[in-house]
Amino acid sequence: MYISTKVKENLEKASWIRKMFEEGIRMKKEFGEGEVLDFSLGNPLMEPPDEFFEQLERIAGERKKGQHRYMPNTGFVETRQAVADQLSLETGLPFTPDHIIMVCGAAGGLNVAIKTIIDPGDEVIILAPYFVEYLFYLENHGARPVIAETGEDFLPDMDSIENALTRRTRAIIVNSPNNPTGRVYGEAFYRDLRDLLQKRERETGRPVYLLADEPYQRLVYEGIKPPRAFQYVPNCISVTSHSKDLSIPGERIGYMAVSPHCAGASEIIGGAAFCNRTLGFVNAPALAQRIVAGLQSLSVDVKDYEMKRDLLYGALKGIGYEIHKPEGAFYLFPKSPIPDDVQFVKILQREKVLTVPGSGFGRPGYFRIAYCVEEKTIRRSVDSFKKAWEEAVGVNARL
Ligand SMILES: Cc1ncc(COP(=O)(O)O)c(C=O)c1O
Repeated sequence: MYISTKVKENLEKASWIRKMFEEGIRMKKEFGEGEVLDFSLGNPLMEPPDEFFEQLERIAGERKKGQHRYMPNTGFVETRQAVADQLSLETGLPFTPDHIIMVCGAAGGLNVAIKTIIDPGDEVIILAPYFVEYLFYLENHGARPVIAETGEDFLPDMDSIENALTRRTRAIIVNSPNNPTGRVYGEAFYRDLRDLLQKRERETGRPVYLLADEPYQRLVYEGIKPPRAFQYVPNCISVTSHSKDLSIPGERIGYMAVSPHCAGASEIIGGAAFCNRTLGFVNAPALAQRIVAGLQSLSVDVKDYEMKRDLLYGALKGIGYEIHKPEGAFYLFPKSPIPDDVQFVKILQREKVLTVPGSGFGRPGYFRIAYCVEEKTIRRSVDSFKKAWEEAVGVNARL
């Protein structure tokens, strides 16, 4: 065996998303690129806004001394200032650059945050259905995931979170707008969560942190303003990136922000700077940091995603699929019309439509559609979703 047993095991149970991605490559070779309707990946097709390219060209043309050297591991102070200013504006809290560390995307940031606060054996609550990589990030740092189920509507269930809390709970990861459901959590949830965490902290004398994973924060529809976790929960660490809101996932740029009211805020940032370095990220890419400093209030045109959501949601509802209308992100998470979601995803695959089974997100019986694709892909897929539905009706009749 050339690789570790653990990695081998993880590769096997790893992401359905990856499996579908590989299936997609195979099918595109076999049937031709245009024939496969690929909804498997949350890789946004939309180009970044013009302002991104303007900043990129301006900054790439500069010849200032020292621009490409090592920097403080937290990142350039100008960028952290821009992030802090924007966060203060959005939350009313007194953020300064000392509350911010620039990271390599939300994935990098989550690893840094987890490593910074976790002792081996500590527990971290995650809400199912979940972004499957949480399991691997937690394992990276010796944390034990504890799953709390969300309700039928995929909104958090406080009883289930309370039941998941133990004396070893160190954090809860909350992702809103959510991947894979697209649901956005309301104010009442954050208030209840704060009360619950504070009660537990009083009992154990140990903070339980809210790790808010917020890369889809700006991708919300119908003009809703999603509550910011920071405004309700003092012990909050937010991790986000510009992968989705500026459509630049390849540039690996994001930030971790610690609430000014968080217990041990400066120690956490100091620890995170160390972890950013020693996990091997060292610092977030210098060029990307300079670019996003000037783009903190900007995002891609969410109207385009909203149009695609409406188009696909309307078409699938019309066929008969059961779906909760998502308020944000770019995912639909319909109920599989047959109990076995993996089998249904295979039926869709025969129609050349690639999706991901809910089993890959800890919620069997559903499947995920990433609609960050071209409009014509959505329009062309409707017939295939209908045929798969009809086949599923036949399967159910035989059960
Ligand atoms: C919920 C969630 N968290 C984190 C990430 C990681 O994003 P990034 O590209 O910023 O590392 C993703 C990416 O799809 C995601 O969906």
